[in-house]
Amino acid sequence: MFQFKLVLLGEAAVGKSSLVLRFVKGQFQEFQESTIGAAFLTQSVCLDDVTVKFEIWDTAGQERYNSLAPMYYRGAQAAIVVYDITNADTLARAKAWVKELQRQASPNIVIALAGNKCDLASKRAVDDEEAAQYAEDNGLLFLETSAKGAINVNEIFIAIAKKLP
Ligand code: GTP
Ligand code: MG
Repeated sequence: MFQFKLVLLGEAAVGKSSLVLRFVKGQFQEFQESTIGAAFLTQSVCLDDVTVKFEIWDTAGQERYNSLAPMYYRGAQAAIVVYDITNADTLARAKAWVKELQRQASPNIVIALAGNKCDLASKRAVDDEEAAQYAEDNGLLFLETSAKGAINVNEIFIAIAKKLP
């Protein structure tokens, strides 16, 4: 049994809590409440014959909570940085979080970039190939996800688990 600390970061309303709710409870809420401070949840995945337990810190994206983030990413072995594919500004914010993690978090942290709300294809504002290229250039895992449609949610956690030592 392996235990890893994982943190979610990203602009408010991109769907961090919704991804966690989908992963941990298999549920989705259309009116998910904005997180205050941070929330802590755990969930395990099985990989071949090992169990990987994630201790998940779901941080609050609202700007007034930004100064708390280091408390949650310090010592984390993995991070999911989330943006909303319908809002290009949220990708810019995600890139800033990646930079901060690369400077301040553990040097061998596994970072995944999640382009969430991929069910809203008609409102797309971020090209998936552009995001994939950015991820590749920066050594990040990358998947477009949908907490609502349960697309690539388990997959992103499993991809992280496979990259962890
Ligand atoms: P903060 O806690 O404020 O940082 O926000 P958050 O990133 O945790 O976002 P949250 O999970 O609260 O979701 C914000 C809104 O987006 C909610 O109304 C969700 O229902 C909606 N949402 C989240 N994920 C998806 C998705 O994959 N598709 C669609 N269509 N809506 C989503
Ligand atoms: Mg939240």
